[in-house]
Amino acid sequence: MIEIEDLWKSYGSHKVIKGLFARIEKGKTLVVLGRSGVGKSVLLKLIIGITKADKGVIRIDNTLISELKGEKKYKAIRNMGMLFQGAALFDSMNIEENIAFYLRQHGNPLTGKRYTKKELNDMVSHALEIVDLAGTEKKMPSDLSGGMRKRVGIARLIVYRPKYLLYDEPTTGLDPITAMQINELIVKTQNELQATSIVVTHDIISALFVGDQLALHKDGVLAYMDKPDLFLQIDDPVIAFLKQTIEKDPRSFRRKNR
Ligand SMILES: Nc1ncnc2c1ncn2[C@@H]1O[C@H](COP(=O)(O)OP(=O)(O)OP(=O)(O)O)[C@@H](O)[C@H]1O
Ligand SMILES: [Mg+2]
Repeated sequence: MIEIEDLWKSYGSHKVIKGLFARIEKGKTLVVLGRSGVGKSVLLKLIIGITKADKGVIRIDNTLISELKGEKKYKAIRNMGMLFQGAALFDSMNIEENIAFYLRQHGNPLTGKRYTKKELNDMVSHALEIVDLAGTEKKMPSDLSGGMRKRVGIARLIVYRPKYLLYDEPTTGLDPITAMQINELIVKTQNELQATSIVVTHDIISALFVGDQLALHKDGVLAYMDKPDLFLQIDDPVIAFLKQTIEKDPRSFRRKNR
């Protein structure tokens, strides 16, 4: 379970996160919607510990990770994986090296034991099969399309087998069909890893497909965290706008079914 209480973060005089509360039950997916620049990426970076909060509590499975430092913090957050906005692959490494990077550096995330080359190769090809990119091990990121790069980013999460998954705009900039493939992959990864996930997106169709709960990030907090159907009934101009886009989207016939 992820619990966030009274979280605050400013950059200079700009208050981005202003007393944010959230709670994501084990095994569930929370989708965070919101306009550009409201602080969605900042929220994910605070949770995964790349950015430090000014104030507030972040608890993962009853461990107060917001208070930890150094090795203890590393141990607490190694169960988390994040798909960064734009996938963030290393351009100078091929796909295999990208996917195996963290495992090669740190070994088994739970025991620290090093993997053999054969073990790493097997894990990479298994992950590439799951994301439907078998055989692309030796390709470079620049050889792949945007959608393929996002899938490699997801393969990198899968090999690490994190219990907590954070996705920053996984479908932005993709055509509707590729976006739907990514949504299906998010649900598949969620089921395979039995993970607890947060998905940040502008895309309401994706939100409805992958989310157990939806929330709107605005005015520095997560407003209206609710089940998808109830969320869509909330009287808010941003939600009204999102609703309008649903009917027009060619993917709207697809809904999450699990
Ligand atoms: N390292 C930083 N230094 C200064 N300001 C920052 C920093 N990181 C984020 N911000 C500011 O915090 C605000 C929120 O940024 P964030 O990237 O979280 O937005 P977002 O909701 O993810 O937007 P988008 O949907 O466009 O990705 C922005 O005004 C941004 O300029
Ligand atoms: Mg962002």
